[in-house]
Amino acid sequence: MTFRETHNSLPLSIRQQTYELLAPLLSSTIDGANQAKHAHWNVTGMHFQQLHELFDTVAGTLFARADALAERITALGATADGRTSVTAQNSFLDKYPEAANAEEHLHALAAVLSALSSHARTSAAQLSEAGDEASADLLVETVREADYSLWLLEAHIA
Ligand SMILES: [Fe+2]
Repeated sequence: MTFRETHNSLPLSIRQQTYELLAPLLSSTIDGANQAKHAHWNVTGMHFQQLHELFDTVAGTLFARADALAERITALGATADGRTSVTAQNSFLDKYPEAANAEEHLHALAAVLSALSSHARTSAAQLSEAGDEASADLLVETVREADYSLWLLEAHIA
């Protein structure tokens, strides 16, 4: 990644380290948001309306997180790549199951949120250690939001 010139006072070596952690999380968060939309559109069953709305809420939360991650990347002087081809290539999430009933949608999205939270938590610790507290803070917020959404999903799993 080539960084543009910036007055940002964080040393380039640290900004590069941050980028290496934020870029795959950005791709995966966009991927996860689209997976939640997929569930929103295709869920069926007795609890359709409730899950249809819940999955849209999860998608909205993830799209908002992606936006925050992307703008942190650009604030550090790098490029936030939101292109679908790049997102698909760089996401660390599993491919979403093709035909899923309501319970399978809940489990599939729970796995998405767990993976995002896990990556963000590990990265937050590394960035805090490296000296980029602002990015670490963003990732801690990502963990908190992913864990909250995970709770909402798991409350619907018998
Ligand atoms: Fe919708």
